This record gives sequence, C-alpha cells and structure tokens, in this order.
Amino acid sequence: MKKRIAIFASGSGSNAQKIMEHFKHNDEAEVVLVLTNNPQAYVLQRADNFEVPTHIFTRHEFYETDEVIRLLKNLQVDLIVLAGFLWLAPGSLLKAFPNKIINLHPALLPKHGGKGMYGDHVHNAVLTAHDEESGITIHFVSDKFDEGEIIHQSRFKIESEDNLEVIKFKGQQLEHQHFPRVIESLLKKMKS
Ligand code: GAR
Repeated sequence: MKKRIAIFASGSGSNAQKIMEHFKHNDEAEVVLVLTNNPQAYVLQRADNFEVPTHIFTRHEFYETDEVIRLLKNLQVDLIVLAGFLWLAPGSLLKAFPNKIINLHPALLPKHGGKGMYGDHVHNAVLTAHDEESGITIHFVSDKFDEGEIIHQSRFKIESEDNLEVIKFKGQQLEHQHFPRVIESLLKKMKS
C-alpha cells in the first residue's frame, strides 16, 4: 500500500507544490491532505490544482482540541511534512505521530533557527553574520523550534555580491530539488 503524506503550510506553498508534483504518479507514496492555519494561503489553490483535499484550522482547534489529530489518523497518514508552516507543533501531535513529522528550514541548522526564524528573517540573519555559505535543513520535528534530529542538509556558497533575493533564490532551488526526494527516501526506510 502507498504511504500517505499530509502537508502543513502557512503561505505560498511552492515546496508543497513540488511534493505534490513528485508524488502525483509515484508508487511509493501519495499526498492525501494539505492543512493550513491561513485561509488566504496560496497553498490552498495549489492543492486544488492537484485535487488534493484541504483543511483549514484555527489556533483553538490546533492547540486546544484533537480535531487535527483525529483527521490525520482517520486518513491513516504515515508522514507529516511541514513545508513553510509557522506554528509550533503541539505536544499531542508529536505524541500521536512520533518520528513521523519533518520540517524544512531555509538555513544550515543549528545556525539561524528558533522562534521567529522563518523566511526572510533567516536569510537576513545569514547576511548579517557574513556567513560564507548557507543552505537548507530537513529535520525531524521536536517540541522546540528547529531542534529535532537532522535528516538532510544541502549547502551553497554565498558570493560577496549576493543579496537577500539571491540567497533566497539559491536556497529555494535547493529546497525544490531535494525536499521531495528526501521525503521519498525517508518513506522507503520507514517501517509501516
Ligand atoms: C521555505 O523556504 C521554508 O524553508 C521556510 O518557508 C519557506 C516556505 O516557502 N520555512 C521556514 O522558514 C520555517 N522556519 P513555500 O511556501 O514557497 O514552500
């Protein structure tokens, strides 16, 4: 039986799109649900384009009820993928899906992670630190922002003339290139 993926995203969802593309015709796995806390998120449109069902939830539903967990369990989700999802996973979700939640971070953790470190904030921190390289990290999710076990990192060199847009672009290219295939190889290793 195919493994079943749920994607959480809060914004544009370009990574969610790459994952849906990758698993659209794939023997290993399929994307069964896209979830968001943001009713305006463009990821909802992207999911519709792939005919993947969506679920919008509130802060109350996510942190004070088990509705999201029930939904994921009913759909027999094997892997939860956070792709630009900005809320901390509640303990109840981590407990219900141990070692089955992964996140994408736009820098080389443990550098430039933690609360409030997302999107441009991360790239600005990289520039301010005058780092010679940056990259992406795919890691298991724990009860702290950006601290779970690292599964994969890819890196790129920062040239002296690189600005925020360039760093963002280089990072996004690595994300789109690696995230779907890292998910696939992780699923292959996971016991059912
Ligand atoms: C991605 O670059 C991802 O690494 C980042 O949000 C972006 C989402 O882009 N995640 C974080 O910063 C989490 N701390 P997308 O919506 O186009 O996939």
